[in-house]
Parts: sequence; structure tokens; C-alpha cells
Amino acid sequence: MKTVINEATIGYTDQGNGTPLVFIHAFPLSKSMWQPQVDALKDTYRVITVDLGGHGESDIVLWNDSLDGYAKNIIHLLDHLGVVQAVFVGLSMGGYTLFSIYRNFSDRVKAMVLADTRAQADTEEGKTGRQSMAEVAFKDGAPAIASIMLPKLLAPSTMEHRPEMVEQVRQMILQTPTAGIVVDLVAMAARPDSTDLLSTITCPTLVIVGEDDQATPIADSQYMAQRIPTSTLATIPQAGHLSNFEQPAVFNQALKSFLEKFCL
Ligand code: MLT
Repeated sequence: MKTVINEATIGYTDQGNGTPLVFIHAFPLSKSMWQPQVDALKDTYRVITVDLGGHGESDIVLWNDSLDGYAKNIIHLLDHLGVVQAVFVGLSMGGYTLFSIYRNFSDRVKAMVLADTRAQADTEEGKTGRQSMAEVAFKDGAPAIASIMLPKLLAPSTMEHRPEMVEQVRQMILQTPTAGIVVDLVAMAARPDSTDLLSTITCPTLVIVGEDDQATPIADSQYMAQRIPTSTLATIPQAGHLSNFEQPAVFNQALKSFLEKFCL
């Protein structure tokens, strides 16, 4: 499905009835990464996935230099769909975007799931790394970014033993235009630190992390879970950074238990 918001096309899916669940994808992927969750949850919930600008079916918004822009667009999409409050699920860059949603539109957040993400801003070294990656993207395009990102996104065991899954994720990355990749990198490097926000979060929150996550290791999730008063932490065995995709059954069970526990 597509709609035009602020003169830019936004790609999204909207299936099922019940409490709205809004899924926000990671870098440099698209809403397709949430297919295992859509399949498992659409019979019980209203499941919405969205392509951030420059990903999937959404137009590139070249002047978007912050994750706040992505957050605003998601809220505009929800306005368009008549959704007042939702449970938001953000993985990695999707989690950074979710912090922006909570900071600016907390009244829209019924509950949240912070998956394989972190609250800290980039270090100076991290920012330099973003710039180097943007240069690689500009010069060599998405195939070079796929080679860099696949071992960061997937657990070593997935890389070694699940070639079909590696190929699926590679294809998702290859479909992301270079400009979309560069815009993400600039926006992620500029994102504010969200550690002070953690203790102010009052909605039910689930923190999920793949046991073998190398991009945002378990310690980052423990840090968030210890500071968010209303949170619980779930670790997903035999999964890396893309825990929802690598181990969908365990991820979905953690999500369902959380939703049921809070009657969402
Ligand atoms: C992601 O999966 O969205 C990225 O790994 C996030 C990051 O690079 O910080």
C-alpha cells in the first residue's frame, strides 16, 4: 500500500484488526524484514509496517537529516490511518526512531518494544565510521554496503549455516537506493543521546536482543532494561542483530507474551 504525505510517497502495510502494532525497520532494510511478524500477528492485531524514506516503496527525502523526520512521517501516516495510539516495535535504527517518537509524541505510544538497539548516541569514532560507510555507499553502492552489513546483522552461525537467509537479507539491502543509505547514515550520526529519556518512560516496554548481536550487544539492552522502570528483557538464542528474522518463533512468542501480559 502507498500514500502521499508531505508530497512524498510512503509505502506501508496495514492488515488485521485489534490493537495497532507499528513495526519500524532497521538500516539498511525495509518493511519486508517484518514479514514473519506480520504473518504471525495479523489474525489477532492490526499490524502496520512502514518503509522509512528512501527504503522499500517510500520516496527518498533528501533533505531529511534527522531521525525526527522519520518519526514525524510515521505519526503522519498513523493520522492518515486514523490510529491514535499504538504499540511500537523498532529494531536498531527503528529503535532510534522510536526514541524520537517517544520524545516528541509520547501520547501516541501505548507500549513499546526496543529490539536490538541502544539508547546512547554515536561516539566520535562511530560518527567517523558512518562517514566512511557513506563514502563507500556513494562510491560502490548497495552491494558494498551489503558485504559490510551482513556480518553485522546476522549471527556467525546464520552466516555459516543459513545461506538462503543471508541471500534474502542481501536482496533487501540491494533494493535500498544509495541515497537512502547515505541519508540514514547522516541521520543516525546526528541522533541525540536518549539515555536520559529511559528513566522517564512510563509505558510498558519490552527490550529484546539476539544473544549473538554484535552491532548492539546484550550489554546495551541490559543498560536500557535496568533504567526503564516498566521494562522486561528478553534474549533470543541463536540470533544476531536481526533477531526477529533469524528466530521469528522465539521473537514472536516474546512479543505475544508481552502483549498478553499487559492486555494490549
Ligand atoms: C541497524 O541495524 O539499524 C544499524 O545497525 C544501526 C546502527 O548502525 O547503529
